[in-house]
Amino acid sequence: QSPEGRKRKKKAPGDFSKEVPLQKRTPYSDSWEYYNGILWTSSLEAKLDAPKKNEEKQLSAEKLRQARQEKINRFRNKHKIYVQGTDLPDPVATFEQLREEYKISPRIMRNVEAAGFQAPTPVQMQAIPAMLHRRELLACAPTGSGKTLAFSLPILTHLKQPMNKGFRALILAPTRELASQTHRELLKLSEGTGFRIHMIHKAAEAAKKFGPKSSQKFDVLVTTPNRLIYLLKQDPPAIDLSRVEWLVVDESDKLFEEGKTGFRDQLATLFSACSSPLAKRALFSATFAHDVEQWCRLNLDSVVSVSIGARNAAAETVDQELLFVGSETGKLLAMRDFVKKGFAPPVLVFVQSIERAKELFRELIYEGINADVIHADRTQQQRDSVVHGFRAGKIWVLICTALLARGMDFKGVNVVINYDFPSSAVEYIHRIGRTGRAGHAGKAITFFTEDDKPLLRSIASVIQRAGCPVPDYIQHFRKLQSKQKKRLIKKPLEREHILTSPEALRRKAKRKQLATQKGLKKTPKKAKNNTSQAGTLPPKISLSE
Ligand SMILES: Nc1ncnc2c1ncn2[C@@H]1O[C@H](COP(=O)(O)OP(=O)(O)OP(=O)(O)O)[C@@H](O)[C@H]1O
Ligand SMILES: [Mg+2]
Repeated sequence: QSPEGRKRKKKAPGDFSKEVPLQKRTPYSDSWEYYNGILWTSSLEAKLDAPKKNEEKQLSAEKLRQARQEKINRFRNKHKIYVQGTDLPDPVATFEQLREEYKISPRIMRNVEAAGFQAPTPVQMQAIPAMLHRRELLACAPTGSGKTLAFSLPILTHLKQPMNKGFRALILAPTRELASQTHRELLKLSEGTGFRIHMIHKAAEAAKKFGPKSSQKFDVLVTTPNRLIYLLKQDPPAIDLSRVEWLVVDESDKLFEEGKTGFRDQLATLFSACSSPLAKRALFSATFAHDVEQWCRLNLDSVVSVSIGARNAAAETVDQELLFVGSETGKLLAMRDFVKKGFAPPVLVFVQSIERAKELFRELIYEGINADVIHADRTQQQRDSVVHGFRAGKIWVLICTALLARGMDFKGVNVVINYDFPSSAVEYIHRIGRTGRAGHAGKAITFFTEDDKPLLRSIASVIQRAGCPVPDYIQHFRKLQSKQKKRLIKKPLEREHILTSPEALRRKAKRKQLATQKGLKKTPKKAKNNTSQAGTLPPKISLSE
């Protein structure tokens, strides 16, 4: 700007900085100039025609603004992006646009390309720009729709480069399996950038590594809340979170749950440990909870809320089936039938408890199915090896508890079987979301018995909303009150044991005999963990490619 220009700027009428698009020279006259949204004019012309031309300009600028807004609204509607908040950042349509507008590291963009991602998913279109504008965020998008990249990319962009300042970003996940998967994804995305992405494997070791004497050579930490709390509670605290700029809570509604399985209390401690005034928070999940939204409204700074599609809906890519199996024995028969007909692995089978996971595993092993089991009673090493084996295609049927229900991204799970009916619609959505990911088709079969009647209606309505068939009579069942629903989540139905194979019965008899002989009441430890053997494939199973 010339000194003359600065003088003229003071005389310019009105503030057009928000209304006028960027352009250097307008077609009106040589003496009117727009630059960076500022109106320039000579005093004589200002007296003679400025008011009229100003009005015209304002009008056309307003029209332009409206047209632009309509275009953005159409784009959001097309991708089912629903946003709430003030000064909402525009969505982006392509990764190219992201690269140009936000100067994302070319290396990171190359890594995105190498992963085979051609265009951003709807949640990425909107959540990435919001976070890049350092806006606090509550995002809700279907299972398998790319939320991990939606928070990872802005985090790495803001951190710019590795620094020895300690952790500057923290990602929380409810299970170790999910934290480990997110850690892996971040490593892939940051390949070649030098960022140090950490996970807490053993709290005691981490205390030495991240403690006050460390050289602070860390950038991002991915962890479950429990381990982090352990470090924070050491005296002096074995980890410093005061430099954290981004705190992401993945599976936020799970982490906000109260009670034994919830992390609500821990979260409060973690939030206050991230004490930097620069710290921003973003919460992600496939399911929406009112108390989380409430919390965000009260505690986050001018929060942007992004929802993709209908809230609390199952992924549209999953073909859902409800199957009445009569009784507990009916479930086993249905399972055997499923196997007999020939199925395309990999398959995930959900049961409601650790005990039942063990029991079903014994049954399936007896059948000779190439199966394994994962639950919180197994050692970390066993859990890691099962996840690895399932990813590698070595395990065809994996029996699991809620441990794997959230966030886990196994490529190409063909079928999810809900052997035990889930204890809530939210759990159902997450469980079946292990298939039909990233636009691929998937199938979910949910067994139900007479006992499952109370929850049938709420899960049937999720199925129905996705356009899948549901028996008519279910719609006449009574709706549960929210108190009753909560009770069922806390205390799932008691079910008969899954013990039918001669092997299982023999074991049971033997255990009983041992217990009476030795006065023992507990199962010996060895037998407890002896679940890693995998059976061989029966000739009846037909494999897809
Ligand atoms: N832009 C993209 N294009 C294609 N695939 C993508 C894209 N972004 C992510 N993916 C892939 O989609 C899959 C699901 O992503 P992700 O695990 O982040 O889903 P999610 O939304 O977090 O699901 P969940 O609610 O189950 O945690 C992953 O395999 C990921 O590599
Ligand atoms: Mg996820």
